[in-house]
This record gives sequence, structure tokens and C-alpha cells, in this order.
Amino acid sequence: MAETSNNTILSARDIYKEYKIGKTLLRVLNGINLDIQEGQVLVILGASGAGKSTLLHTLGMLDTPTSGSIHFKGENLSIANQSELAAKRNKVFGFVFQFYYLLPDFNALENVLMPCFIGQSMFKAKPKKENTEKAVQLLKRVGLEDRINHRPDELSGGEKQRVAIVRALINDPEILLCDEPTGNLDTHTGREIQELIWELNERTKQTVVIVTHDERFAKTAECVVRITDGKIVNCARN
Ligand SMILES: Nc1ncnc2c1ncn2[C@@H]1O[C@H](COP(=O)(O)OP(=O)(O)OP(=O)(O)O)[C@@H](O)[C@H]1O
Ligand SMILES: [Mg+2]
Repeated sequence: MAETSNNTILSARDIYKEYKIGKTLLRVLNGINLDIQEGQVLVILGASGAGKSTLLHTLGMLDTPTSGSIHFKGENLSIANQSELAAKRNKVFGFVFQFYYLLPDFNALENVLMPCFIGQSMFKAKPKKENTEKAVQLLKRVGLEDRINHRPDELSGGEKQRVAIVRALINDPEILLCDEPTGNLDTHTGREIQELIWELNERTKQTVVIVTHDERFAKTAECVVRITDGKIVNCARN
């Protein structure tokens, strides 16, 4: 068990990530230690190439560190086998990315329901009534009641990101991990998405981790971590 406080939901211990490029070793994460508290909004800031996405993917078990471990409520996820991990990842984490990654041939509602079909063929599977009702409720909550049947190419950038956020929330994850959620949006739309994430956190008390270049996020987050060259250089609480 990792040494954590009672409220720690996720922790990173001595995380190193290295890539071998030819004969050169590129160290992208250089000894990261981080405790994330349950219910908090944590913002990870840093310049391009600092290692933010690598850290977020490592925290969400989408990527494996070269060494070090990730602990969820004190349980070491880094020693879980692949099937345990896949189940845990789907239950614990919701992911939001800069480029949305919506499936182009499916409408907003179907995209949101996608995580309910993990392990099944989307073409054969029928959504459960309660999942459809929940998806519609969530789409309404983010102001997309009139866009439910729109495919991604019939949605604006901000609307696509709302759909992606709802998709990340459909399985009630304990932790929402967002990688540059406003990185592809204009200032106004970016602010709306930022407000939406805050409002969802207020409402659900879900833990949220946001990786961004956007300093505006730092003003309202409870906790801000700055990383440079794969190291945490500053950790501040607002
Ligand atoms: N698969 C890979 N192989 C080799 N190097 C990689 C790989 N993935 C990332 N890197 C390198 O690791 C460094 C950190 O990448 P990362 O994507 O974590 O940065 P970032 O802080 O998210 O940057 P940005 O703000 O531009 O998204 C970069 O220099 C990148 O080139
Ligand atoms: Mg990145």
C-alpha cells in the first residue's frame, strides 16, 4: 500500500517514463510523485513537450511507466493483470481529449452510449433503456437536447466536446481525466467548457484532473501542479 492520506483517491509514486530513440534515451517523466484528493479539481500546467499528456495517460492507466506505480485508493494498479486493469479503467476513469475522438458515423446519443458497449459489437448491441435515458438526461444537462441525433460533422467544436464529456461521464467514473479539453476551441467556447467541467464537479463531487496550457484553469482550480521537463516544479493550493 502507498502512504496516502485518507482522502487520497489516486497517487503516483516515483514515476519515470523513458523512450529509446535509436541510441538516445529520452526521459519524459522524471520521478513524479503526486497525490490527488477525492473530489478535487487538479490542474496540471506546463509547456508543450513537458510531459503532461504522458503523465495523464499514465495516471489513467492508458500508458505504462518505465518504473513507478499508480495507486487507486491505496490499491496498486500497476500490478493488476490486463483484464483486471481493463475492467478497473472503464469503471474508475472517464477520459476527455482535445480532439474529442467521436465516431463519425454515429450520432451524439450513440457516441455517448459507446462505453456501455465495451466488449460488444456496436452494430449488434442494443442499448439498455436505462442507459439511453441517462445519456439523454446528461445530454440535456449540457444543453444538447436539440443535438441528440446530430453526427459529429453536424456539431460545432464546443458541442463535440460536450458530447465527449457526457460520454466520459456515462459510466459514472470516479475520476475524470481531461487532456487539453479546451485546446481546440475559441476563447469563449473554451470558457463555457471550463465552466461546465466546474459545474459538473460541484454537482457530482467527482475528482477531475485537467492537463492544459491554459492559465485560466489555474485561477479556479483547488490545486495546481506545474511540470517542466517531466518533473513537478511547483504544487500550489488555491
Ligand atoms: N511514443 C513516443 N516516443 C517517443 N517520444 C515520445 C512519445 N510520446 C511522447 N514523446 C515525447 O515526450 C515528450 C512529452 O510528450 P507529451 O505529449 O507528454 O507532452 P505534453 O506536455 O503533453 O505536450 P503538449 O502540450 O504539446 O501536448 C515530448 O517531447 C514528446 O516528443
Ligand atoms: Mg499533450
